[in-house]
Amino acid sequence: MGSIKKALIPTAGLGTRFLPITSSVPKEMLPIVDEPLLLHVVREVAMAGIEDVVLITGRRKTAIEDFFDRHVELEEALERSGKQDLLERLNEIRNMVNIISIRQKQALGLGHAVYMGKPVIGNEPFAVLLGDELMLPPTPETPTVTKQLCDTYEETQISTVAIMEVAKSEVSKYGIIAGKKEDKWIRVHDVVEKPDADQAPSSWALPGRYVFSGEIFSHLENLPPGRNGEIQLTDAMCKLAQDNKLLARFFDGLRYDAGDKLGYLIANIEIGLQHPQIGESLRQYLKQLSGKLK
Ligand code: UTP
Repeated sequence: MGSIKKALIPTAGLGTRFLPITSSVPKEMLPIVDEPLLLHVVREVAMAGIEDVVLITGRRKTAIEDFFDRHVELEEALERSGKQDLLERLNEIRNMVNIISIRQKQALGLGHAVYMGKPVIGNEPFAVLLGDELMLPPTPETPTVTKQLCDTYEETQISTVAIMEVAKSEVSKYGIIAGKKEDKWIRVHDVVEKPDADQAPSSWALPGRYVFSGEIFSHLENLPPGRNGEIQLTDAMCKLAQDNKLLARFFDGLRYDAGDKLGYLIANIEIGLQHPQIGESLRQYLKQLSGKLK
């Protein structure tokens, strides 16, 4: 087993891009066909060989914890009606990882959410996965994005983050890094939160997968609010970069920004097409529909 034993998933944000549904339903619990978005993220963690998940939750997010808990009444009903397959599927979910949940009492920013994990994570290296970003391996043999980052960390013992190239018109939606290409990775020397297109140092964007050494906590401690008055993870990452302690790497994976309405619908269609029960019917429907569309 590697040195990364915990993953932190922040889910305490307000989800304003997905209002009104997110006024009572956590964005992370929105369904991708029949599974909540967050389950895909937790599965990515489990497939990286990590067993402990630190969930940062907030008010109106109890549905998330309930999902990973047992539901004895439901289990008994499934047992009585002989729905063994569904029962096994639920058991598999409950046993996938250990869930440790911590409340972020106020959504003060992603950096603040990550800092909430310090009492559980201490000084160990750990992975961070944004709960509304879906990353799937393109083939069953491909390691998950989190596993790819863990591998680079094991090799270098340096915090490593996933990056992807985006169009100039998109840079203002992301944290953007600047750095120098080395052999298998990029040595980061700057990180900027959502820059305007004309001020972006590059078009290498952060899609929400990270592995940090415990040192990130010392940079998050007492970090003043940054862009939009929020405590920004990118500001702490910038400090790591200034100390020459941050790497970035492109990843092999399919990525869906499911925290955005269009990205969410695209994820549902593409994952729906692979679904054993409805995939073929959905394909037929989409074919028919495309004939009707102008
Ligand atoms: P986002 O900014 O994408 O999520 O934060 P949001 O704030 O929920 O959504 P919008 O932008 O208002 O629509 C990235 C991740 O960080 C978490 C969010 O839950 C999301 O998974 N987050 C953000 C926290 O846990 N706490 C915060 O204070 C801010």
